[in-house]
Amino acid sequence: MVRINTSVFISGKGSNLKNLIIKSRDYSFPISIKLVVCDNPRAKGIIYAKKNSIPVLIINTKKRNFENKILNHLKEHKVDFICLAGYMKIISSVFLEKFRKKIINIHPSLLPKFKGLNTFSRVLKNKEKKTGCTVHYVDEKLDSGNIIIQKEFYINKEDNEEIIKKKTQYLEHRAFPEAIIKIFRNN
Ligand code: GRF
Repeated sequence: MVRINTSVFISGKGSNLKNLIIKSRDYSFPISIKLVVCDNPRAKGIIYAKKNSIPVLIINTKKRNFENKILNHLKEHKVDFICLAGYMKIISSVFLEKFRKKIINIHPSLLPKFKGLNTFSRVLKNKEKKTGCTVHYVDEKLDSGNIIIQKEFYINKEDNEEIIKKKTQYLEHRAFPEAIIKIFRNN
C-alpha cells in the first residue's frame, strides 16, 4: 500500500501528534509522517518526534518568509498532506493555494459552534448540553472548512474546564485517525 507523505504541524503538547505517530506504525494506516513543523522551540511534541526519528523543523514565525521556508522543507520531504494538530498560527492563502484540500485541522468543539480559542470556558459559560471535537478541512476562514468527522459527549453537572478538556482530548485521539482513514478510503 502506498502511504501518503504527511507533515504534522504543532505548537505545544503534541498529544495528537504522538497518537498519529503511534497509529502510523501500522502499515495499513494511510499516512506516513515525514516531517513535524513546530513554531515553539519548547513544545513537548518535539521530543516525541525526535525520539521516533522524525525530522523536526522549528520555525520562527516572526521572520518574514517563514512560510516559504516551511514550503521548501515540505518539498524536500515530498509531503503531500498536512495535519494541523494544535498549530497556533493562521495559514496564509498563498500557502493554502499550494495545498488546497490537503490540510486538515482538529478543533476542540462541535463546529460551527465555538470557533477560535478558549473553547472549554465558552462551552461551560453557554451552558451547552454537549460538546466534542471536529476534524475539518482548512480553508481561508478560521475553523470553517468542510467537516470530515465529529465526536461528541454529554456534559455532566460536575464537569469543569479541566474535565471537559480531558474528555475532548480522549475523543480527539480517536477522531483524528478516523478522519484520515475516511479521507483516503474515499479517494
Ligand atoms: C487540541 O485540543 C486541538 O483540538 C487544538 O489544540 C489542541 C492540541 O493538543 N487545536 P495537543 O498539542 O495535540 O495535545
